[in-house]
Amino acid sequence: MYSQVLFALMGAVASQTTSGTPTNQSITASAAYNGSTTPSPTSPILQLNLNLEDVWDLLIGPVAVANTTTTYSPTPVPSSSLIPPPPLYYSPFPTGQQVPLTPKNESWSFPSDFWWGVAGAAFQIEGAAKDEGRGPSVWDALTRVTNHIVDNSTADVADNNYYMYKEDISRLAAQGVKIYSFSLSWSRILPFGRGPVNQQAIDHYNDLINTCIEYGVEPSVTLYHWDTPLVLQDTYGGWLSEDIVPDFVEYARIAFEAFGDRVSKWYTVNEPIVFCNQYPLPAQYFKNFTIPNKQQPFHCGQSVLLAHSQAYHVGKSILGDHSSITYKNNGGYKIPLTNSSADAQAVQRAWDFNEGWFSDPVYLTGDYPESVKEYVSGFLRDFTDEEKQQILGSSDFYAHDAYTAQFYMAPDSGLDSCIGNVTHPLYPSCANTTYTYSAEDGGWVIGPAADPGSPWLHKATDWVPAFLKYMQDTWVTPSPGPVKGVAVTEFGFAEPFEGSKTLLQDILYDAVRTSYYHDYMEAILMAIAEGTDVVGCLAWSFVDNFEWQQGYASRFGMQYVNFSDPALPRYYKASFFEYINAFKIYGSEGGD
Ligand SMILES: *[C@@H]1O[C@H](CO)[C@@H](O)[C@H](O)[C@H]1NC(C)=O
Ligand SMILES: *[C@@H]1O[C@H](CO)[C@@H](O)[C@H](O)[C@H]1NC(C)=O
Ligand SMILES: *[C@@H]1O[C@H](CO)[C@@H](O)[C@H](O)[C@H]1NC(C)=O
Ligand SMILES: *[C@@H]1O[C@H](CO)[C@@H](O)[C@H](O)[C@H]1NC(C)=O
Ligand SMILES: *[C@@H]1O[C@H](CO)[C@@H](O)[C@H](O)[C@H]1NC(C)=O
Ligand SMILES: *[C@@H]1O[C@H](CO)[C@@H](O)[C@H](O)[C@H]1NC(C)=O
Ligand SMILES: *[C@@H]1O[C@H](CO)[C@@H](O)[C@H](O)[C@H]1NC(C)=O
Ligand SMILES: *[C@@H]1O[C@H](CO)[C@@H](O)[C@H](O)[C@H]1NC(C)=O
Ligand SMILES: *[C@@H]1O[C@H](CO)[C@@H](O)[C@H](O)[C@H]1NC(C)=O
Ligand SMILES: *[C@@H]1O[C@H](CO)[C@@H](O)[C@H](O)[C@H]1NC(C)=O
Repeated sequence: MYSQVLFALMGAVASQTTSGTPTNQSITASAAYNGSTTPSPTSPILQLNLNLEDVWDLLIGPVAVANTTTTYSPTPVPSSSLIPPPPLYYSPFPTGQQVPLTPKNESWSFPSDFWWGVAGAAFQIEGAAKDEGRGPSVWDALTRVTNHIVDNSTADVADNNYYMYKEDISRLAAQGVKIYSFSLSWSRILPFGRGPVNQQAIDHYNDLINTCIEYGVEPSVTLYHWDTPLVLQDTYGGWLSEDIVPDFVEYARIAFEAFGDRVSKWYTVNEPIVFCNQYPLPAQYFKNFTIPNKQQPFHCGQSVLLAHSQAYHVGKSILGDHSSITYKNNGGYKIPLTNSSADAQAVQRAWDFNEGWFSDPVYLTGDYPESVKEYVSGFLRDFTDEEKQQILGSSDFYAHDAYTAQFYMAPDSGLDSCIGNVTHPLYPSCANTTYTYSAEDGGWVIGPAADPGSPWLHKATDWVPAFLKYMQDTWVTPSPGPVKGVAVTEFGFAEPFEGSKTLLQDILYDAVRTSYYHDYMEAILMAIAEGTDVVGCLAWSFVDNFEWQQGYASRFGMQYVNFSDPALPRYYKASFFEYINAFKIYGSEGGD
């Protein structure tokens, strides 16, 4: 199934062509197959004509199908499902769920143009993996890698949102959610990543968008949330190759033209730090590329900056200035573990090799931070002046997925032992990190831990105002472009051990997630009161879903989904009500 022979063929495609109708597309893979990935001018040519079904069979294998594969009509949400839980916060002696939601801090309010909603991503919720002309993505393949997904699950069905989107949108509308931010599946729209467009996918997303509008929920689109079309990965290495740039830009153009009349907030890519660090992919399951492992993420990053910036300019020319386009960066707030100058330097290197890698080029200089540049110039070409100009300012607001905070410090052996030292385990960032205060400061963890499946995540909401101000001061205020404020485009919490709870009513009272949303929203209000230009927020996520390598074991949903029940019923958790309350109390239409 995971045949290096096939990868050899795809990687050495002499002339990749695409033809046929959307339901029967094919690619021609031809190579001088002699056991090597390098074509030889003298060896015989083997040509394969693969249609979409062949690609699924050869690269993925059997795919599970949902219990229902027609579009659900939404079930009206009963009013009893909209009664908030007994409060955690609003009365010191809870006497029942009818306790009014007070007190209110009169110093706080959301500006009238503050926007808010919930977010999700195609691969994590849609299911319908092979349905209606979708092609496979790298994640369909990763779910087949032995021991890659902790519970051995796939996202073949996931939340079956491909058929249940009307139900999902109606449940958001019933809670008064203003924005539904979702991602498009690239390999649904272009099954091979490039070539013919699958009209069924366009029709689907059109109906999804129109359903949002019908329910008074603003649709917002992310073009790419980690699900690289598998054919592009096995043909030229996906994001490892700059070949992906024109393919991504063409995909973006198709989406802007199809949906731009109804969608005004666009994100090109989601969390490049994360998906670039997913390289190298497991060797036996994907075509191998002879780029040293530690360099692969930076090849990916280079392609991302080129693809994002070109897509941004194409998008602006199609959508005009009333729409906004940006990309979602991510990472936690970085706190020096001690007051030493070495730790201060480690913190700066940690910003540079994480957020700065993508933010400095777009918001500050058109190029990488100095420390990153020093490293990558050993193996990446320089951006041309024209590319730098395109990259700089290719964003309309600063979007950050800002879940948490952690401490950073110099390596035990000091920074000098690491900078420039390829054999050092922390090279090239040379920043070490921890979730606990130093022993002298008590050694406590920074805040309550999330589910063990998400060890990177602790509730650290006290740091949010400082974090938001840091982003504004660093990337927004000095920015040369018309960047309008900071938005928190993902924040959320994996309730500890939620996946092992069995009683529905216990699952629904998600106390730590609830306190996370309560305190996070207060932190945003505090930041706004202090003058930080926070323009919007999107909670992650609106339903339990396929959490990548954690499968269904670690959960981020503000709605519970019973994945053992073929009907995949949804239920609001307490945290959903807590999130909404922030806007009821402090929103421009709520409160006094
Ligand atoms: C689809 O394409 C394959 C290979 O090109 C061909 O054998 C098959 O007959 C086609 N099927 C349809 C329904 O056109
Ligand atoms: C296959 O062809 C490549 C390119 O010409 C050549 O370098 C390699 O030695 C050949 N391999 C075998 C096993 O013949
Ligand atoms: C997942 O599958 C692997 C290989 O078949 C097996 O060793 C492992 O125990 C399975 N894990 C779970 C959680 O079922
Ligand atoms: C893949 O390429 C890397 C880098 O050249 C190499 O270290 C690794 O052994 C290769 N893996 C396989 C399975 O060929
Ligand atoms: C570190 O700096 C902070 C803020 O300036 C100060 O409050 C703290 O006392 C300092 N800690 C040490 C150990 O010097
Ligand atoms: C990083 O910090 C941890 C403590 O949190 C320590 O055990 C480890 O040795 C450090 N690593 C390096 C390379 O300094
Ligand atoms: C480079 O890092 C290795 C591994 O940590 C270490 O043993 C070595 O001493 C370092 N070299 C220098 C010049 O600091
Ligand atoms: C989930 O669904 C299964 C199958 O219908 C059922 O046995 C189980 O009780 C449900 N779990 C919860 C927490 O509702
Ligand atoms: C009310 O908001 C102000 C401004 O953010 C803050 O300083 C104060 O601590 C808040 N009061 C309470 C009781 O939370
Ligand atoms: C899907 O599952 C639900 C709940 O178990 C069941 O009522 C329904 O009959 C199933 N539908 C199909 C087509 O299997």
